[in-house]
Amino acid sequence: MNPYGRFDDANREYVITRPDTPLPWFNYLGCEEFFGIISNTGGGYCFYRDAKMRRLMRYRYNNCPLDSNGRYLYVKDGNSIWNQTWKPTRTKLDSYECRHGMGYSTITGAKDGVEVSIRYFVPIGQTTEVWDVRVRNTGKTKKNISLFGFLEWCLWDAMDDQTNFQRNYSIGQVEIEDGAIFHVTEYRERRNHFGYFSVIGEKPAGFDTSRDKFVGSVHGGLDAPAVVVNGKCTNSVAFGWQPVGVHQIDLNLAPGEEKRFHFLLGYAENDEKSKFAKSADAGSAKAGVVNKSPYHKVAKQFESSKAVDAEFAKLKDHWTDLLSVYSVKIDDPHVSRMVNIWNQYQCMTTLNMSRSASGYESGIGRGMGYRDSNQDLLGVVHLQPERSRQRILDLAATQLSDGICYHQYQPLTKKGNTAAGSNFNDDPLWLPLAVAAYINETGDAKILNEKIGYADKDNKDGATLMDHLELSIAYTLKHRGPHGLPLIGHADWNDCLNLNCFSSTPGESFQLAGDVDGPQARIAESVMIAGLFCAACEKMAEIYHQVGREADAAAVLKNGESMRLVVNQHGWDGEWFLRAYDAKGKKIGSHENAEGKIFIESQGWGVLGGIGLTDGKAQKALDSTNKLLATSNGIILQQPPYATYHLELGEISSYPPGYKENAGIFTHNNTWIQIAETMLGNGDRAFEYYMSICPSGKEQQIDTYRAEPYVYSQMTAGRDAPTPGEAKNSWLTGTASWSLVSITQFILGVRPGPKGLIVDPCVPKSWKGYSVTRKFRGKTYQIDVKNPAGVSKGVKKLIVDGKPVAGNSIPFDLGGKTVAVSVELG
Ligand code: BGC
Ligand code: NOJ
Repeated sequence: MNPYGRFDDANREYVITRPDTPLPWFNYLGCEEFFGIISNTGGGYCFYRDAKMRRLMRYRYNNCPLDSNGRYLYVKDGNSIWNQTWKPTRTKLDSYECRHGMGYSTITGAKDGVEVSIRYFVPIGQTTEVWDVRVRNTGKTKKNISLFGFLEWCLWDAMDDQTNFQRNYSIGQVEIEDGAIFHVTEYRERRNHFGYFSVIGEKPAGFDTSRDKFVGSVHGGLDAPAVVVNGKCTNSVAFGWQPVGVHQIDLNLAPGEEKRFHFLLGYAENDEKSKFAKSADAGSAKAGVVNKSPYHKVAKQFESSKAVDAEFAKLKDHWTDLLSVYSVKIDDPHVSRMVNIWNQYQCMTTLNMSRSASGYESGIGRGMGYRDSNQDLLGVVHLQPERSRQRILDLAATQLSDGICYHQYQPLTKKGNTAAGSNFNDDPLWLPLAVAAYINETGDAKILNEKIGYADKDNKDGATLMDHLELSIAYTLKHRGPHGLPLIGHADWNDCLNLNCFSSTPGESFQLAGDVDGPQARIAESVMIAGLFCAACEKMAEIYHQVGREADAAAVLKNGESMRLVVNQHGWDGEWFLRAYDAKGKKIGSHENAEGKIFIESQGWGVLGGIGLTDGKAQKALDSTNKLLATSNGIILQQPPYATYHLELGEISSYPPGYKENAGIFTHNNTWIQIAETMLGNGDRAFEYYMSICPSGKEQQIDTYRAEPYVYSQMTAGRDAPTPGEAKNSWLTGTASWSLVSITQFILGVRPGPKGLIVDPCVPKSWKGYSVTRKFRGKTYQIDVKNPAGVSKGVKKLIVDGKPVAGNSIPFDLGGKTVAVSVELG
């Protein structure tokens, strides 16, 4: 059992019942432009669109204790000081509960007859966090208490904020107006945005904006801030140093009485012309005073708790709507809650964040990743078709005219950069996968004609999305090595297989090292990219069919076929697919190697690329994977691990054995093997693998696993590590979208195809049946699957609205608004 919490599926919440979880367990707030991360002890921060460039709250990654700084409310009750979030005082509470839900978290703590409960959420359409506070006297005597709401401002650019102290200690500025606190650092010069923190529903008894004044001195800490100890704010106005926002609220509560009020913590922008308050004349006292009207508008809108309730109800409805697009009724709590709630929720989070901001991604390191975001789309095209469309166009716009792509872009500017390296030769090939998924979902083939241009051109050269797709395929064809396999460039999906980089300088980025344009870089080849290329060709053919370009479809399929021949000849090691050839043309992932004999990625993409499906190679590759890589915690990336650093391989061999790409369980690629198994009809194995990494299934070993049991983590330590089974880097991982694809489209088997909705389950033989509700192209399909013969795969009967249909695809035009589908496997 899990001593830290439990799922509350009916309410779509995870309930954490003690604050000292093995790691901070996070949630996300916001679904459009304003986002926050929040841990079960109130830690985290919020930002507008871009966690690097528009950060509102300062957070201290890698602090001790971990997860320091956040949204805190202090309670001062006589001499006792506590937080309902437990941190930062860590005063023992009489009770504690954190409910992480869809876009909100409610954290409740109680002590000595006072219960404080705060629901944190971002209303749809707003750039504001609401902290909806309820304070109740649960005792038998009157209570006179003071509350102190706290946050620390970040000086907007989160990277600069953490490094440039000689400047930053002098620039912090605030304004106070009618008890509301405004963070206005740099507003008087080149910024036109400000932050605000205010209390609505109770009149604050005081404020502080200087952190030193709040904690007492530079030697004070958030565990016992002087202002709280003394029970009185000092009304400090910060100049430089560290500006904070603190509001004091004094409450008298009769026994049983509850008071409710809320904080607003938000972001606002002004037009250049209306930056300053109207009455300000140059030289007057009011000159330079921020025009606060955008804030006043929000404050007015949220002046009552009723408005807060209405906005919260909207957020709930939003999620009910989203999660009704695909849902399953099944006699398995793990599948049910992951499919119906958490996995889809995590997919939405990766759509919003890519790999930018989490407990493990600092928000300053990475923007929107090209390959990452393309893959993330696979998990959300059914939920957010409009946003997916825009994302596809944004991503394509960061492709260069030679076909390679900027590896990432900043969400605020949408401009690509090479900060995380470039020439990852797999990058272009993820676009056809995302576009095919989008068109199959929506039927919107018009997207192919959208004019996008290339990132290195003046942009008006008219390159359409179709041009981008064709260029992506052409890029691989053009960049092939001595065996005819695709060149790897700086790395492929495995960022750490740096075959052209040769980094021997401490601290240097493995991905930035090396010259991939030199002649020697035209040798290292990737079998994984070859498989991905074959799959991308199939997807391109689907896309061509959509627009009636049959000759082009046939041609691209031929390209795939030729690549399969090359892999058969040069990419097969006897019992499994090779992984790569290094820059000297030596094999990687071969029985001939002492370490790294077999890798997971090429087994997955070999099969997904349709290589060896008829001659037994595919099955052999999967059997070898099962024998050599599979464990009860998931499938290991490669075996044996690299015990020493290999200059010719790069970062992969830099990790201690068992972690990350060096023989860790990188859950993302496990999903490819799951799908590959379904392609070969092995439903038992596919599901066993699914469960081996399913977070909900980890509750039984949570002290080993440690990470959140409601979302996927990027990595679980492999058997060669000192801590096997320990998960790291939760939330922002391609595992989310691919797991959803694996379970919903290939195991449960309901997926959009070019000609209709395909129902092609591949399940454990012991499964008796389940039903799926799928909204698709304006219809609702009610699909009932039965498995009387106890098979894994094979649709024996497909009945649509009472009429038998041949095959396993339901044509678009069949049935009315709601379509009753019954499927018998056999
Ligand atoms: C990690 C990879 C990651 C890369 C990003 C490496 O250190 O191991 O998982 O993709 O950094 O640049
Ligand atoms: C995480 C990165 O975000 C992703 O792009 C990469 O494919 C994996 N690490 C594997 O290295």
